[in-house]
Formats: sequence, C-alpha cells, structure tokens
Amino acid sequence: MIEKEEIKIQKEYIKKVKKLNEGKNLKYYILTMGCSLNENDSEKICGMLEEMNYIKTEEPTNANIIIFNTCCIRENAEDKLFGKLGEMKKIKIDNNSIIAIGGCMTQEKHIIEKLNKSYPYVDIIFGTHTLHKLPENISKLLENNTKIEDVLDIDGKIYEDIPIKRNDAVKASVTIMNGCNNFCSYCIVPYVRGRERSRKPEDILKEIKKLAEDGYKEIMLLGQNVNSYNGGIEYNFSNLLIDINKINGIERIRFISPHPKDFTDDVIDAIAKCEKVCKVIHLPLQSGSTNVLKAMNRKYTKEQYLSLVKKMKDKIPNIAFTTDIIVGFPGETEKDFKDTLDVVKKVNFDQVFMFIYSRRVGTVADKMENQIPEEIKHERFNKLKELVEKQIEENNNKYIGTVQKILIDGTSKTNKNTLSGRTDSNKIVVIEADNKYINQIVNVKITENCIWYLKGKII
Ligand code: SAH
Ligand code: SF4
Ligand code: F3S
Repeated sequence: MIEKEEIKIQKEYIKKVKKLNEGKNLKYYILTMGCSLNENDSEKICGMLEEMNYIKTEEPTNANIIIFNTCCIRENAEDKLFGKLGEMKKIKIDNNSIIAIGGCMTQEKHIIEKLNKSYPYVDIIFGTHTLHKLPENISKLLENNTKIEDVLDIDGKIYEDIPIKRNDAVKASVTIMNGCNNFCSYCIVPYVRGRERSRKPEDILKEIKKLAEDGYKEIMLLGQNVNSYNGGIEYNFSNLLIDINKINGIERIRFISPHPKDFTDDVIDAIAKCEKVCKVIHLPLQSGSTNVLKAMNRKYTKEQYLSLVKKMKDKIPNIAFTTDIIVGFPGETEKDFKDTLDVVKKVNFDQVFMFIYSRRVGTVADKMENQIPEEIKHERFNKLKELVEKQIEENNNKYIGTVQKILIDGTSKTNKNTLSGRTDSNKIVVIEADNKYINQIVNVKITENCIWYLKGKII
C-alpha cells in the first residue's frame, strides 16, 4: 500500500532530523486555530516534532520552529493568522527560527499568493493533504535552506501510524473520517479537506483499545460528517459505536459533527443501547427556515429536523441536544429568522454555537446577490443570543440538587483553588475539592447555576 510506504519514508526523515538535532535543545511553538479536527492534526504535528527532538514551548520568542495550524471557516480566522504572522517577523529575525504554516487556509490559492507576496519569511507552507510530510519538509529545509511549498489539491488519503502527542491524559480525540461531500453552499470545508474518506474499523478499534490500556476514559470521535462513516460493506457508524462501546476501560463516547440527514434509525438505536455513548447529541441546525435550508443545500426541512429531534427524544430518555446556527445567510428574511427562533424554542438546546454568516471565496453562497447588511446580521445574532442564554439558564436549573457523574479535567481556569470537570451532558462543573480527584470520575451534587457553568460538591 502506497500510504504505508509514504509513512515509512517519513519515519526515515524523522530519524535523520532527530540525529541532526541531538544535544541542541531545540524548541517548537504551535498555534492551532479552528475545530477539533485541526486540534487532532496538531497532536500529530506535535508527535512528529517531538520524535525529531524538538521540545514544546508556550513562548514563540524562544522557539526554533514556529507552526501555525490554520482554519478558514470564517473571515475572522484569516485576520487572526495575518495578525500573528506580522508579530512573528521580529522573532524570525532575532532567532532565525523556522516558520511553517499548514492547515485549511493554505489549501486556498489566494492565501498562498498573499503569503508569498506579503510574508516571504514563511519557510514551509503545507496543506491538509501533506501534514504527514512535515519531517521530509523540515529535513529538506535544513539541508537546502530554500522555501518549501507543499500543498496538494486532491480528494485525499488516509494515513495511519503518524506519531501523536496527546494534549490530555484521560480524554482523547480519534478522527474516524475526514473530508466532506455535502457542499453546503456557505461552507469552505469541502474545498480544503477533500472528499469523505473513512478509516478502517480495525485501525480505529486498535487505536481506542490502546488508549484504554493507557488509561484514557473518554473518546471523542471526529469527522466533518461522523455519522456518514463508511467502514465497508455492512459496517457503518452504528456498528462502530457498538464495537467501541465494548472496549473495557472506555467510559464515555462522544462524537462531532453528525449531519441530520445521516441520522438513520440504526444510528439512533445504537446511541440508545450503548450505555457509554453520552446522551447529548450535537445536531447542527444552521437555520430553522426551510427556504434558507434549501438555499444552504442542507438537504432537510424545518419539519424534518423537528421530527428527527422528536424521534430521538422518544427513543432515548433524557437526551439533550446542542447545535450550530448561522444568522444572516443571503436572502434570510425576518420570517426566516423567526423560524430559527421557533426551532430553538421547540428543541430547547443545551448549548447553541452561534455564527454570523461570513462570505467565503469560491462557495456558492458568496456569489448570491441578496447578501444581508452587517447591522441586520448583528441585530439577529443578539436576539438569538438573548433567547439562547435565557434557555440555558432555565435548563441549568434542572440540574440543581441532582447527582451527576463528573470527569474531573483539572484545576479550574478562573480559580486555581477549584477543580473543573464535565457531566455526561458536557456541562462544565466547578468543584472545591482535592487535586487527587483530577482525571477521576466522581459523583457530584449540583448546588449552583452560574449560566456558563454549574457549581457542585463531591458526595
Ligand atoms: N461539518 C460540520 C461543521 C463544520 S464547520 C457540520 O456540518 O456541522 C462548524 C460550523 O461553522 C458549522 O456548523 C456552521 O455553523 C459554521 N460555519 C461554516 N461555514 C460558515 C460561514 N461561511 N459563515 C458562518 N459560519 C459558518
Ligand atoms: Fe461544511 Fe456542510 Fe460539510 Fe459541515 S456538512 S463541513 S457545514 S459542507
Ligand atoms: Fe476550520 Fe478546517 Fe476545521 S476550516 S473549522 S479547521 S476543518
């Protein structure tokens, strides 16, 4: 198999660079933008760099190699990258560090042009299809000292056995499929991540069994369309959930992002019967208006979405939903927006990730003539936010007095004297307790609702 050979070649480059770097105490800095898939890719970048004798630093100023793993889902992600790149120029001059840029944004032609024209001090440009070749690219740069551009515009392949350095000791992300075939009219992902391709079930199960042996308790399955996972004839997402559910040591299974159109009955039944699958489902709505959904190419209507939610609520007791919503899609009328508010009221989401529509070059929606003025987009966004916050506050009240199983992540970000963890339904809970509970699952009685998080006591 060619992919296997390609990884073998990269392992040789890893050895070569490792030797070159021996005893030099070299450091790397990585900044990840974007979604969990990018986070997981960054864990692989870190894995390769650490095998090449680079040590992680949180400070770009003392890094010998600086990596940006980029996102282009919305315009603000681009602004962030170019701002950061400007800051790196001085560091590059002072330290002669290597600057490498990869991820979704470098898959866009206009970005490569801008990088080459305005940021000539970038040494390596790699894309989503060439991430595994980082060792080769670093090796060639060290040898020849000439700028490297390694971006492919292809459907994409699957590479196994890339070294990985995980961010967490109990929670692990596992990418099960990559790419997207849906071409929602607003979205850049299909253009930068290629077509859908699924890993083999045996490779996924082997990885998760190893994670369980290493003490991991929670698995997050990742894919742009996780529930259209295709593991071969007679093996789809429901089979995968059932098989992962059997792995000893794994206590929680989550997945993002599914597409409503792929929630077949077998997947719903598997969620219902697998006790480790968390009963909070991320179900991206995008819009509550059938007209807008059609223009978005989402392949479901308002009524179909609501009846899917009803079906799942009927089959799975205590199920909760989270979602993604875009406001201000081209042509969205007041009535369309009211439909979105209506669905939000009816479903009663546990969490809503809200986005203002952002034009993406090359997508169908970017060429639509009826773009919505910025002020209207913001007005609608604020109205939606108000409704969502009210709902979340009311929903959280239901937790008060209940006992929840909490996986403790570590000390709380805002108060180092407290611990923070997550319920099965993914709510953040802050607890005053001893550090010995970190990475454990404990029973916690919920005492207070602070809207964005809950407070509780270990019992
Ligand atoms: N594959 C996932 C989503 C990936 S992107 C899915 O289908 O749900 C994450 C979210 O970003 C999307 O759900 C959408 O709400 C938002 N998004 C994508 N493109 C956008 C755009 N052009 N403007 C604003 N938000 C966008
Ligand atoms: Fe983008 Fe739609 Fe694919 Fe999600 S399903 S990645 S929103 S095109
Ligand atoms: Fe961004 Fe790429 Fe993810 S565009 S949201 S990092 S798939």
